[in-house]
Amino acid sequence: MTSSSLPTTLTTLSYADIQSIVAQDFAIMDKQVFGSLNSKVQLVMSVSQHVIDAGGKRMRPLITLLCSRLCADMQSKPAMHLAAITEMLHTATLVHDDVIDESGLRRGKPTANATWDNATAVLVGDYLIARAFNLLVGFDSLPLLKLFSDGTCDIAEGEVLQLQHQHNPNATEDDYLRIIDGKTSRLFMMATQGVAILHDKPELMEAFAQFGQHFGNAFQIIDDVLDYSGDSAVMGKNLGDDLAEGKPTLPTIKALEILKQQNSEHYNTLRIAVQTGKTEDVHFVINLVQQSGALEYCRQRALQETAMAQAALDALPIDNNNCYLQGLWQLTELASSRLL
Ligand code: IPE
Ligand code: IPE
Ligand code: MG
Ligand code: MG
Repeated sequence: MTSSSLPTTLTTLSYADIQSIVAQDFAIMDKQVFGSLNSKVQLVMSVSQHVIDAGGKRMRPLITLLCSRLCADMQSKPAMHLAAITEMLHTATLVHDDVIDESGLRRGKPTANATWDNATAVLVGDYLIARAFNLLVGFDSLPLLKLFSDGTCDIAEGEVLQLQHQHNPNATEDDYLRIIDGKTSRLFMMATQGVAILHDKPELMEAFAQFGQHFGNAFQIIDDVLDYSGDSAVMGKNLGDDLAEGKPTLPTIKALEILKQQNSEHYNTLRIAVQTGKTEDVHFVINLVQQSGALEYCRQRALQETAMAQAALDALPIDNNNCYLQGLWQLTELASSRLL
């Protein structure tokens, strides 16, 4: 399969169209995310339900379901179950992330930390991770357990690395890539590689890994661009948080580099904004990043990552016309078009 041949066979699909490729599997998985929780403690159930019922795209489980159907075109209970567990882990990272980022809005609703408090959100996030592993044990597969336990360590490390670089205006693109590789892309890789383990397809492992890694990178870069240029109502979360927290994401890292090269008088303004997380005029600094050309650079980087994810799909020994392969392809297109 060539990378240019696949899109020509398709009309552009919406996210709902892609979901409908695996509609039945998706509906079952979706029920299982909350349905697999069985805490005796009512507060655990209430907080979890609050976050899970708020929605979310369920993109990682959708990837798992498409990959599973790609391996064997039949409904797979283990794959649906694994997909739900992956979403459970994702939910836990969001609940924790909102505490760290002091965010008040998630999936269009007040965050768990805002509705209850930080301690409750941290502990319920912990429960979700514990329950995910509790359920993973049921697969009786050491390779699967190893993939998920290594991956979860990497996610946590990515978040800690990010914390270490908070307020660091000298953070580099490499630092940034190490952070997002852990906190975001690793879960995308777990969503794909777990399927290769489930279906005993070691020959797909490398291509699945590459797909997850690069799709995850593209997705996080886009999310970070949208923090400077998106619409809070559409995204269902507060934007501008990254700057307020002095998080050196790719838009700021690149903007600093460009302003420095230009000997701009505003280079220091942005440095101080990252260092302190405080700025007298937020709009001025956001405008500075937007005007610097950094967002265009980020969009190009996201497109490169998308192309690498698509190249990984190309490397799979699967027919071009396979609808699940096309679904995965379209998912990457759709994610990168959030930029346009
Ligand atoms: C948010 O992920 C966290 C990032 C990796 C940027 P999603 O955008 O997939 O969040 P939900 O699940 O749809 O809410
Ligand atoms: C992604 O980072 C969070 C995780 C992968 C846990 P962000 O902090 O950018 O996510 P949002 O923007 O709050 O969804
Ligand atoms: Mg956040
Ligand atoms: Mg973000």
